Amino acid sequence: MPTHDTPPPRLTTSSGASVAENQNSLTVGARGPILMQDWQLIEKLAHQNRERIPERVVHAKGWGAHGMLRITGDISHLTCADVLQPGAETPMIARFSTVAGELGAADHERDVRGFALKFYTDEGNWDLVGNNSPVFFVRDPLKFPDFIHTQKRHPRTNLRSATAMWDFWSLSPESLHQVTILFSDRGLPVSPMHMNGYGSHAYSLWNDKGGRVWVKFHFKTRQGHRHYTNAEAEEVVGRTREGYQEALFGAIEAGEFPQWTVQVQIMTQDQADACPFNPFDLTKVWPHADFPPIEIGILELNRNPENYFAEIEQLAFSPSNVVRGIGHSPDRMLQGRIFSYADAHRYRLGTHYESLPVNRPHCPVHHYHKDGAMRFFDNMPNPDAYYEPNSFGGPMEDRSFTEPPLDLYGPAARFDHRDGNDDFSQPRALFLLFDDEQKDRLFANIAAAMCGVPAWISERQIELFRQVHPDFGAGVSVALDALDPQF
Ligand code: HEM
Repeated sequence: MPTHDTPPPRLTTSSGASVAENQNSLTVGARGPILMQDWQLIEKLAHQNRERIPERVVHAKGWGAHGMLRITGDISHLTCADVLQPGAETPMIARFSTVAGELGAADHERDVRGFALKFYTDEGNWDLVGNNSPVFFVRDPLKFPDFIHTQKRHPRTNLRSATAMWDFWSLSPESLHQVTILFSDRGLPVSPMHMNGYGSHAYSLWNDKGGRVWVKFHFKTRQGHRHYTNAEAEEVVGRTREGYQEALFGAIEAGEFPQWTVQVQIMTQDQADACPFNPFDLTKVWPHADFPPIEIGILELNRNPENYFAEIEQLAFSPSNVVRGIGHSPDRMLQGRIFSYADAHRYRLGTHYESLPVNRPHCPVHHYHKDGAMRFFDNMPNPDAYYEPNSFGGPMEDRSFTEPPLDLYGPAARFDHRDGNDDFSQPRALFLLFDDEQKDRLFANIAAAMCGVPAWISERQIELFRQVHPDFGAGVSVALDALDPQF
């Protein structure tokens, strides 16, 4: 850390030339205009014009830190993944976020929180891009852009629209489970440290004997769950819009490193075949009674980024980033995401975004991608080996990394994802876990979010809540009446 006594380094241009004067532009006389040849002024203004990049289309507001994953359990019989072997310690980085708010949004808004993790394993980067919720609003990626439109601004008013949100939700019963969680206490954590994280989708683990099981990853907060009510959050936002950044950055600076217990739920193919619901449906959880969580490690965040933009804003996660021993699953949402993220990064950050220091794997990288924006990697391993196959010692595939085959063959068609699906039992089970006070807060939070929505839309949604449980529908109806006597 430089002190007041250390002489500062000499200022240079970005091409390294020493700058003699950084106070006054080059002008004609003391009162005259600026000369076009003042290239130092032009460089400075031009750089300022390029300081912003597109914000993430969703999850724009975020907070992150570096840390470590330590594996304490033993699931080596299920996976050959390096990162999941007993005793493994893997450096990682996390980014938490809200979904709907833009880059400048207040931190303490009721919303699902992103919980995205990048593990720099010895066999490549493994990204687990989850939320603080084990389920999601929709189960088909075809619905995702429409859903997100309802969370963002109305094209004419440029305001967020409660009508759009409840119109969509009330026409999409598969959203009930996530909506119930969003409007429960868990929908407004006091900080990223006081919430769980979930990989959410079913993924798979595979071993070197060709065996595969299905898996869900959970990260349980060791700081305890803490939440704000809407009223408390309004008060906090009145004081600071950056409460999460302050809390997370401050805790790590103070040496109070947040931790999460890492758990997996495992499902065999036979159990999947016998499962009464589609275990690859992202609107469903795997009941803990049938698939008990197994503790496998600890995640700790212990280092703040030195530069927020370089390390957090330029961070690029993708569910397509899996490593040997970890695979995908037939979850359709996951498949949509496998395409979407790298596509978003090429647009948001540029072609070779994976060469940026924060995205670069810590293990050697050998590919044949060639030129384009941000090409600052070397020839691999020599300039003659720039296509494959070649006779010049270029990198070659290694079939020992082959994943066991997935038996997924079936007729290609557009199946109705709502057909025969029970969208009510799991939200009902969750609702029945709430005590009376939690239920009252759920009703009040929903009513507050529904205020001003046309009655025919809120009635349709209340009918869905009634099908979850009569008390759910009645509770929301009473809470809405109390707010809006017109209803
Ligand atoms: C088909 C459904 C989905 C699509 C197409 C989609 C697409 C996207 C896109 C394009 C981004 C911005 C990426 C960037 O610019 O870096 C993003 C961010 C994110 N999404 Fe999704 N998403 C989907 C569903 C989900 C689900 C189900 C979850 C959680 C279980 C999730 C969690 C996240 C998180 C945490 C981020 C922020 C990552 C970060 O911190 O950089 N998304 N999503």
